[in-house]
Amino acid sequence: MSTPLLDIRIERKSFAGATVLQNLGLRLAEREIVSLLGPSGCGKSTLLRIAAGLERDFSGRVLRADGAVAFVFQEPRLMPWLTVAENIGFADDRDYDRERVAQLIAEVGLEGFAEALPKQLSGGMAQRVALARGLYSRPRVLLLDEPFSAVDAFTRMKLQDLLLQLAEHHAIALLLVTHDVDEALYLSDRVLVMGSRPSGIRQELSVALPRPRDRRDPELARLKAEALTELHLAHAI
Ligand SMILES: Nc1ncnc2c1ncn2[C@@H]1O[C@H](COP(=O)(O)OP(=O)(O)O)[C@@H](O)[C@H]1O
Ligand SMILES: [Mg+2]
Repeated sequence: MSTPLLDIRIERKSFAGATVLQNLGLRLAEREIVSLLGPSGCGKSTLLRIAAGLERDFSGRVLRADGAVAFVFQEPRLMPWLTVAENIGFADDRDYDRERVAQLIAEVGLEGFAEALPKQLSGGMAQRVALARGLYSRPRVLLLDEPFSAVDAFTRMKLQDLLLQLAEHHAIALLLVTHDVDEALYLSDRVLVMGSRPSGIRQELSVALPRPRDRRDPELARLKAEALTELHLAHAI
C-alpha cells in the first residue's frame, strides 16, 4: 500500500474501565472503500470518531494524511432554519462558495431545491444534502456512520449508487459503518468484520469485483455467506 490516508493502530480504547476496542489495526488507501460490520455496541462509531480525530483518549495512534476528513451520520443533522444551499455551504458562514454548492446540489440530484428548507425534504433527500455537505470541504476521506439506515430499501440502493459516483468523481476514500451485509459487499473493496467487545477485526473480506457491480453477482452471495458465518461466530446475529 502506498502512503495510506488513514493508518490507525489502537492498543486499547476503554470507557470508564470497560475495554471497547483492543488490538485493532486499520489502514485506508487513497480512493479505497472499506466497510465495517459488527455487533451493536462493539465500537464501530467509536472507531470512526478515533479516525476523525474527535476521540483522542485511547492508547495507540492515528496517522491521518493532510486534507480534511468529513463525517456523514445516520440522521442528516441539518439545521432546520437554513436552506439546503446554506446547510451545504455551512451554517454561520454566509460567505460560502455558491458555485460549488450549486454544483454539489446538482450532483446529488437536488436541482431546484437549493432554497428549500429541511422540513420540505424526504429522508432520502435530506441524506443527499448531508452527502453534499460532507463533500463541500473537499475531504479526502468521507467517514459514514450507518448513513442509509433510516431510509427504505429502494431509496437506499439509489443512495448507494450515488455514493459510489460521488466517491469516484471526487476521488475520495470511504470508511463506512453499516449493519447491512449486502450494502457493505456491494460498495466496498474490503469488508472488515468486528467481534463483540473487546473488539478487534475478526475477518477481512476482499471484494475483487469491478464496478458497476451486479447486486445479483454469485460472488457477492458467496462472500455474504462468509460474512454471516463470522457475524454468527461473533454473536452479532
Ligand atoms: N461517550 C461514551 N461514554 C461511555 N460509554 C460509551 C461512550 N461512547 C460509547 N460508549 C460505549 O462504548 C461501546 C461502543 O459504542 P459504539 O462505538 O457507539 O458502538 P457501535 O457503534 O458499534 O454500536 C458501547 O458499549 C457504548 O455504550
Ligand atoms: Mg454506532
